Amino acid sequence: MTKTPKLIVHGGAWNIPDEYVSAHLNGVQQALSKTYPLLLDGVSALDAVEHAVRILEEDPTFDAGRGAFLNEAGEVELDAVIMDGSSLDFGAVAAVQNILHPVSLARKVMEETEHCFLVGQGAMSFAQRMSFEILDPKALLTARELEFYNSIKNKTDFETHHPFEFQPRDTVGAVAMDIHGNFAVATSTGGTARKLRGRVGDSPIVGAGAYADNDLGAVSATGWGESIMKVVLSKRVCDAFKEHEAITAAKNGIEYLEQRVKGLGGVIGITAKGDYAFAYNTPRMARGYIEGGAPIVDI
Ligand code: GLY
Repeated sequence: MTKTPKLIVHGGAWNIPDEYVSAHLNGVQQALSKTYPLLLDGVSALDAVEHAVRILEEDPTFDAGRGAFLNEAGEVELDAVIMDGSSLDFGAVAAVQNILHPVSLARKVMEETEHCFLVGQGAMSFAQRMSFEILDPKALLTARELEFYNSIKNKTDFETHHPFEFQPRDTVGAVAMDIHGNFAVATSTGGTARKLRGRVGDSPIVGAGAYADNDLGAVSATGWGESIMKVVLSKRVCDAFKEHEAITAAKNGIEYLEQRVKGLGGVIGITAKGDYAFAYNTPRMARGYIEGGAPIVDI
């Protein structure tokens, strides 16, 4: 017997300014409405989360793929992970440059190598071997990010994790359950603005930025990566799905993040029973899910 598929996505948790709200809601809605019909047609959860995240990577609104933040050297460096909850297989890449879809490169790592995680130059050589288009560095750069980089590059008091100042964190993620009851998750990011070269956040770290296990459900995280990694947030929330209702598990995870490491961020997820979960401790989190066949988006 087949199940009604589930899909939830996020487009980052931070103090998203009013003037960016409609673009965030629209981006989330596009990812849902272009991906959910595929799930209804029977594609795998893995295909669905890759598809949804590719849409969000393409959208310059978000800090992933096109529109990613610039590091201290003014370059885009991208991280991503994808995980299959039926096998616990995952693939991840970090500090990759000049490709639009790091989530797809992460999937190639999972499916075409005997490894789980490739970084930097090695990941880029692999991308070439897999025939990924290597873009001009300017192709992923947007005027908004260049302007923001120029405004912060010489600031002596800049912090990547201040909760209420303009410190964007537009990491994207998707969690799906397909008609066979299999789960998958994908998370993709440009990291934090003005990060050191080679800095890797939580997003591609399995258990921190994402986790999927058919026995538990699946979760994707967003926010201040250095705090999320310390509490292995996505696995923590997945484990909590065993004992708590979906929303309680997500809220407990975010409370722990805040209390234990003064962390900031948000999570989305789906429990093994198929219930949606989300929570965040930032002023806003762009997110949406499908209920009764229709997208419900909020921020
Ligand atoms: N959560 C994204 C990052 O900190 O890199």
